[in-house]
Amino acid sequence: MQLSNSQDRYGILSIALHWLVAALFLAMLAIGVVMTRLPLTDPLTFPLYQIHKSIGATLFFLMAVRLVWRLAGGVPDLPAGLAPLESFAARTTHAGLYAILLVMPLTGWVVVSASPFGIPTLLYGVVPLPHIGFVETSPDKATIETAASWVHTVLAALGAALLSLHVAAALWHHFIRRDDVLMRMLGRGRIHSPETDREMHSWKE
Ligand code: HEM
Repeated sequence: MQLSNSQDRYGILSIALHWLVAALFLAMLAIGVVMTRLPLTDPLTFPLYQIHKSIGATLFFLMAVRLVWRLAGGVPDLPAGLAPLESFAARTTHAGLYAILLVMPLTGWVVVSASPFGIPTLLYGVVPLPHIGFVETSPDKATIETAASWVHTVLAALGAALLSLHVAAALWHHFIRRDDVLMRMLGRGRIHSPETDREMHSWKE
């Protein structure tokens, strides 16, 4: 298994980061929805917020590594033979997910920094995450908190929608188009694609 990406394969680091980010993103959506619906007095609310902030900061770090790795090493080409609209949809969904996963932690950090409660954040109970100074001291804290909270929630809904589209597309590639898009993100080799199927047929004839 290779470490870095090539034109037709993902390296082990890209594959590991992809599935780790996917699992953490799903967990964050669930934790976010649950914690914001619990009463403030519930004994689970405070720990859930702390876990949410800890995993959120981790996700930001993982996404930054993913982005640098992708920019430095490139990614495998999209499968040949996709219609221009399909390629456009794939690139837009990927860019949207990257943007959301990088911006969401920042908006969450703004919400926490502008909160009137001023609760300190200790990531995983160990690493202190300071509040953003100019947000914490701003006279417009309340407005900033409302706006950042709104953006955070809208991005969560948009992220969930893009994730569903992304999963549906992966299944379409695998079961309908029968190419290797899903398999190569599982670290497996090429199965078949319309192109390889054609080659196989012409070889048999
Ligand atoms: C990719 C990372 C993140 C995801 C997917 C995510 C997801 C969510 C979701 C789904 C909610 C519930 C929204 C609602 O139903 O109204 C939420 C709320 C919240 N999140 Fe995050 N979050 C992320 C990162 C962060 C980070 C890093 C922080 C803080 C450092 C944070 C702080 C908060 C706070 C304070 C709330 C409740 C306040 C509010 O928006 O009303 N989040 N998050």
